[in-house]
Amino acid sequence: MKRTNDLSVAIMNFNNESNVGGLIRTANAAGLKEVVIVGRKKWNIGAATGAQSLTKIVRMPTTEEFLYYCKDGGYNLVSVEIGEDSSNIFYYSYPENPILVIGNEGTGVPLRILEASKGIVYIPQFGEVECLNAATSGSIAIYDWIRKNNALEEKYKIIISF
Ligand SMILES: C[S@@+](CC[C@H](N)C(=O)[O-])C[C@H]1O[C@@H](n2cnc3c(N)ncnc32)[C@H](O)[C@@H]1O
Repeated sequence: MKRTNDLSVAIMNFNNESNVGGLIRTANAAGLKEVVIVGRKKWNIGAATGAQSLTKIVRMPTTEEFLYYCKDGGYNLVSVEIGEDSSNIFYYSYPENPILVIGNEGTGVPLRILEASKGIVYIPQFGEVECLNAATSGSIAIYDWIRKNNALEEKYKIIISF
């Protein structure tokens, strides 16, 4: 059953087309309002498995246009990024009308976006790798929001309450 959840995700200039496709697929599975692709727009059709034609995709050629889009739409940016000013995602309370921003594989979330963000969250890591894959990070953050915003299906809510 299709349901739209009040959450958006933005992909900042990903280089890897499989990451774009994979995140569109997660966004669709999680019933997100939209995926905003900032900068490079190609995605891997195999990784998206058709989700690209079922999901609202908005294209913003530049960071400035993206920021204008967010301001105009009353979005609160929540950047998903490791950094000194980041909060642990598992203790974070999301603002209203959030848009999760996921950074480029090489350069991360641009400073301009971090400065405009209502919150910056990191996903705790315990091993040796420097960071998670971009699409994986986005997927974890999307489902963290789902869990905290009572957006689960009834049958799963019952399981969790035990
Ligand atoms: C492969 S990382 C790029 C890291 C980049 N080289 C840097 O130093 O900023 C790609 C994106 O995945 C997300 N990411 C990866 N690991 C993360 C973590 N542990 N917590 C939050 N975001 C993470 C961020 O959005 C990041 O911009």
